[in-house]
Amino acid sequence: MDEKVAKLGDMIAGASRIVAFTGAGISAESGIPTYRGEGGMWTKYDPSIYANIDYFMQDPSYYWSFFHDVRYDVLRKARPNPAHMALAELEKRGKLTAVITQNIDGLHQLAGSCNVLELHGNTRNIYCLGCSARYTIDDVHEMLKKSNPPPCPRCSGMLRPDVVFFGESLPEDTLARATEESENCDLMLAVGSSLVVYPAAWLPERAKKSGAGLAIINRGPTPLDSIADIVIDASAGEVLSAAVPGGPDP
Ligand code: APR
Ligand code: ZN
Repeated sequence: MDEKVAKLGDMIAGASRIVAFTGAGISAESGIPTYRGEGGMWTKYDPSIYANIDYFMQDPSYYWSFFHDVRYDVLRKARPNPAHMALAELEKRGKLTAVITQNIDGLHQLAGSCNVLELHGNTRNIYCLGCSARYTIDDVHEMLKKSNPPPCPRCSGMLRPDVVFFGESLPEDTLARATEESENCDLMLAVGSSLVVYPAAWLPERAKKSGAGLAIINRGPTPLDSIADIVIDASAGEVLSAAVPGGPDP
């Protein structure tokens, strides 16, 4: 593994327009469960009920019980891990132009990354479909103690998380910016994603086709391994903190 990490370090040192493409695996070491594979969220909660827009609009109480019982506590406790910090450090040094993430946990921003393109939104932001009032996860957790689903305190309207449910399209502007970043980078780091969900998973392919190097850092195989310049099957935190020379400044 060391040899591969050293090669990745050289690729990072030689690049000047790096883009990171991240998935749930980069937050696993922050205590946030991934979706697929052993113990994944979708092995316990059926996404067609808990993460589907039609089901949510029909009966939002399922989603809010999942939020109350599972999501809230994990989000509240989660802190960025060395993988998030390493990417923020690369941006600080002017070597990384964007983090494109499928994650909805907001940990890249908490780590100090500025240009974060959230393809699937951010579950920390909750808003009212009636009056657009915005609430935090703490606000809604309090409301859920009284009623599920939680009515908007301002207009009694329906609240929803600012995430992309299955059955919804990705935010156009964010996807357009992510596509442009992918087509103009000289190295794409695909970190902690099974790379099976489209259109997001097109982006590492677009980067490679546009001439960028492609490094995949993921526990377990992905469908894009065959087109990658390097595949490191190991923990994102370990690999990135070793591959980013000098690590985050103290
Ligand atoms: N380091 C590196 N990789 C890891 C780690 C780790 N510490 N822990 C887990 N992984 C790997 C898993 O083996 C898995 O291959 O991270 C990958 C996470 O894959 P998924 O759970 O499928 O998550 P992701 O690729 O982000 O899913 C994409 O699917 O359900 C939707 O909207 C959801 O954004 C999500 C999208
Ligand atoms: Zn309202």
